[in-house]
Amino acid sequence: MAVKQAVSDSLGNALTVLSDAVDRDLDRRLGDRLHCPPRLREAMRYSIFAGGKRLRPILVLLANEACLGAADAAMPAASAVEMIHTYSLIHDDLPAMDDDDLRRGLPTCHRKFDEATAILAGDTLLTLAFETLAELQPSPVAARCVKELARAAGGSGMAGGQVDDLNAEAGPGTLEWLESLHERKTGALLRASLRMGGIAAGASGEQLDALTEYGRHIGLAFQIVDDLLDVEGDAVKLGKGVHKDEAAGKLTYPGLLGVDESRRRAWDLIDSARAALAPFGPAGVQLARLAQYIVERDR
Ligand code: IPE
Ligand code: IPE
Ligand code: MG
Ligand code: MG
Ligand code: MG
Repeated sequence: MAVKQAVSDSLGNALTVLSDAVDRDLDRRLGDRLHCPPRLREAMRYSIFAGGKRLRPILVLLANEACLGAADAAMPAASAVEMIHTYSLIHDDLPAMDDDDLRRGLPTCHRKFDEATAILAGDTLLTLAFETLAELQPSPVAARCVKELARAAGGSGMAGGQVDDLNAEAGPGTLEWLESLHERKTGALLRASLRMGGIAAGASGEQLDALTEYGRHIGLAFQIVDDLLDVEGDAVKLGKGVHKDEAAGKLTYPGLLGVDESRRRAWDLIDSARAALAPFGPAGVQLARLAQYIVERDR
């Protein structure tokens, strides 16, 4: 089957095949079977299908493959994490948060619709994510994944990290604090994606530890690159505004260490991430390639 073959493809092909498979699953879940007011569905679909990279679901599916699982079995976790991610972006862009007008190359959800609809579209994606995870089989796998994703998205993870990101001046402004902030606001969801892929495949404790270690390194590298792209990136390629972080007083790697040192650290993290994949042998090759893509990306 197509998703299975993606593992032996070049990374570029694999990313296309996997993100198409995720899009089909999301399309089904956000289609007629979702009973809700039409404007709410329209807002959710608008943001979900605006052209994101689908990195988190791809991590679920590649981690699942690295642990020799069946891709179909992990698909609810892949779609669920993209729902959480998209909800976090819709809320991140709201006037009360980063106040952005452009996301994934389109007007942000609250600009296209209105603030109330954007807030509720985010809320609905958040709740639908857990309804989706509940479909995982057997039910102990579903329960473990619910716990993973809830922890990663909640107060000790993404939502808590977002609070501290918005009040950067309340923290000590040190490298340790910045690392903690990035690990929670962005890293937690990336780590949970990998762990859910592993759990759906029945991974061993050693395999889950290796995925967690890989995720810790790519998670931090991912947000360093996001911060670098805000300084050096092209708004058209990125599909979102640039030069916003400094103006908003955000604590970032380039702000704290400069561009060159930030990029060097991102590459060091990718080396560590790759080293963590040793227990998977050849089955970890796509995750290793993905780590490199995370630093080289321009969108
Ligand atoms: C952007 O995430 C927000 C962060 C967590 C830094 P992505 O760069 O994965 O955004 P999409 O999903 O491709 O739009
Ligand atoms: C967003 O971080 C992190 C989450 C949405 C959890 P940013 O605020 O840096 O993301 P962008 O740059 O707006 O995509
Ligand atoms: Mg933000
Ligand atoms: Mg933002
Ligand atoms: Mg950013």
